Formats: sequence, structure tokens, C-alpha cells
Amino acid sequence: MTDMRKVTAFIAALSSIALFSAAYPAYAAPIMLKGDIDRDDRVSMSDMVILGSSLHGRYGLNETQTIAADINGDGSIDSADLSALQDIILGGRNKFPIGTWIGDCGGAKRYFSFDSGTVSIVDPNRESSEFFTVEEDNDLMVFRASGTEMSAFITWDSELSFVLKWSNGSTETFRYFTDVMINMSEILTGRWVTSQGRTFEISGLSGKLTDKNGDISRFEYAPDGENMTFRFGSTENNTTGRKVKNDSMHFTVTWSDGTAERFTRQEIEERGGVTYVNGILIANKTYSLPSDYDPGGILPEAQAAFDEMMADAAKEGIYLSIVSGFRSYTYQGQLYSGYVNRDGKAAADTYSARAGHSEHQTGLAMDINNASSSFNNTKEAKWLAANCVKYGFILRYPQGKEDITGYMYESWHVRYLGRELAKEVSDSGLTLEEFLCIDSKYKS
Ligand code: DAL
Ligand code: ZN
Repeated sequence: MTDMRKVTAFIAALSSIALFSAAYPAYAAPIMLKGDIDRDDRVSMSDMVILGSSLHGRYGLNETQTIAADINGDGSIDSADLSALQDIILGGRNKFPIGTWIGDCGGAKRYFSFDSGTVSIVDPNRESSEFFTVEEDNDLMVFRASGTEMSAFITWDSELSFVLKWSNGSTETFRYFTDVMINMSEILTGRWVTSQGRTFEISGLSGKLTDKNGDISRFEYAPDGENMTFRFGSTENNTTGRKVKNDSMHFTVTWSDGTAERFTRQEIEERGGVTYVNGILIANKTYSLPSDYDPGGILPEAQAAFDEMMADAAKEGIYLSIVSGFRSYTYQGQLYSGYVNRDGKAAADTYSARAGHSEHQTGLAMDINNASSSFNNTKEAKWLAANCVKYGFILRYPQGKEDITGYMYESWHVRYLGRELAKEVSDSGLTLEEFLCIDSKYKS
């Protein structure tokens, strides 16, 4: 055993009692295994005995037993069923699963990645992955992690499915998924929107896909480093792709037919009328703030970042100051009305936010030195564009992206995102709207 595996096994031992008993209540799943005549959720010699006795007239099968006993499905119970039952029992002897199988116990899914003599069990709901050695003796499988031993009877239903009857009485059905081993760290739980207009809502290793026409299908997937295997609907056909991680919120999959699809994490949450996308507060033409949203000024973290930026700029002879920071809902409304009176609504909408839609109301945005196009191309504007990201800011309304941000180029308006995120957005070359796959458009 490698050291890592020892550690994993140790952790598994600590939590194994919960893993096997708490997570899986002892009740029989509504399954009907062919050959399970005594209805104990496994197919074993006792079923052979009952079938043999009934064929000899020593035992009368009831209705459900008759269904289970008609193994070849020809409508009658005879010696052909007895020999089919023998095949099931002998065929499953010491047959060891390989690859990843999806276990289902009353709807709760987990994933068993079998290798020769070992299994790694990934439970997406617990976000845990545990490692066991497995020994098989006829149809009894024994799972061991240090200090823990659990056992289950295995019954093969077909080449692609089997049932485990755990010693605590619970029954778990398994379907073959892929030969790939699952690694917990690659699980993509969350909501992802893609460049093909599709939405993947993933929980653990399965999820719901909504295509751009609104049609919904279910899928399962197996991540394996760069390779992804998806299985859509109930088909046995897997779709494979190569996944490349772009940053914390994006990855791109190149499907086997050569098409590429970019995935963007997009968890939209509304708290007290304020919209957060992946935890990032958004104020634009689509997403507004309540009239009473007032952080009390520029947020301290954003102010501290500006102060540091200002001090470093000054060392290079660049003098920066904030000419407009926090603006209240009411004040923004007054500004906007003034612009509408002066230039008309259509023009005002290209450079001024309506009340509730300004990023200045978030306490995270600031205008530097001179909020007008005469700031463009000054040495201060150039320094700001080149350096603000190091302090956690992005230029929020870049040139050429007017249709996406909803506003004209503003060389003076920065938005605080924090260092890590600002770097990711800046490295992507995208506006915040593009980065999060959201739009900025008034409804009316
Ligand atoms: N000038 C920016 C868009 C604002 O009014 O918030
Ligand atoms: Zn501004």
C-alpha cells in the first residue's frame, strides 16, 4: 500500500461506520432480481433449493416467486429455468467488477472505482473518497480499510449490472459506467453555461443538461484528468472529450468530433435584492441594486487597495486620486436625470447608469483623476490600465466592448474584484460580463 493509500484507508476507517450504515438505510430497494425467488435481494443456492423443490412438487411458488423463477421469461417454470439459475450463480462466482460503477441505493448515488483487489468509493454528497481492499469468495465480497470490515453478497444481473446486498440489510444496485477511475477533486458540481448555449447542472457525477431549445436530458460523467466521459440519457454510448482548465471558473472541452465547448461556471444568487454571480456582486444594466442598498462608502478593502496603488504610482511620478467613489441610489438618479435633460435618454444610457444600476452604488467602483474621455491616453490612464490588476482592480468598460458592457469606453472607471479574481479576468482578456456569461441590457 502506498502512503497516500494508507492515509485514505485510515480516514475511511474513521468514517466507515457512517459510510455504510447512516448513509444507506436498511431497506430493500424495489428491485426484482431474476432468480431471487426467496426475495432476499441476492441470487444464491437457497433459490436453487426452492426452485428444485417446486419442480419436484414439494413447494408451491407464490405470484412474485413465480415471476422471479421464470428466468428465461418463457411463461413457464421448468428445468430450463433451473439450469439458467445455475448459470447465474456459477457465472457470478469470483467475478470481480473492473472500472467505475454507479451505485444506487434508494436514489442516493455513489461511485465505485474497482481496480484489481481494490475499490475507491466516491460519494459526491459527502464530497468524500474512500479506499478499500476487496476480497471475493464466491459471491461474498469483503471490503477492508484499516480496522474496518464490511461485506456484501454480489449478484450479477447482466454483464453491465450487479447488486450488492450489504450485511446491514441494505441493497445497492450497480450499473457499469466507464473503465476510468474517478477522482473526487475533478468533480464539477455546480451550474455551468457553455459557448454552445447549453446549461449543465451537475451534482456529483450526474446532472441535468438543458440545451439551447430548452430540451432537458440527464447525463452522467466521469472525469479523469484531461479526459471526460459523458453518458447522456439512457444510451450505452459514451461521449468523450478532452478537458482543459482555463481558470477557476472556466474549462474547455474538445469533444471527440473535434468541436470545442467552453464551460463557464455560473451560480446566480440573489440575496436581499442584490445579485451575485459566483459570489461576485453585479451591478449593470441587467442586474440592479435595491434603492436602499448602501455600503456606507467605498468598501475598506477596495479603499486599501487603492491607497496602495496610489502610493506605488506616486513613486513613479504618477498621481492618482478618486474623483467619484460611492454614489447612492438617489444621487445616481439625479446625475442620470441631468444627463437625460442635457443629451436625451438614448445618449445618456451610453455613459450613465440609471438609478440602481450603477456600479458606484456597490462601494467597489471608482473613477480615477478625471471622469471624461480627455483622460484617455494620458500617462496616468496608461499606468492605470497596465497596473490596476496588481491591486485587484479591472478596467470595467474597455474599448471595443461597448455592446457587451452596455457603456462607452471609460479609461477612468475601475472595479475592485480582489487580486486573484482581477488577475483571472484580466488574463482572460474578457469583460466581467463575458467572463461570467451574463449580459448588460435594460429590460425596457
Ligand atoms: N458611468 C458609469 C457607467 C455609471 O454611471 O455607473
Ligand atoms: Zn465610474
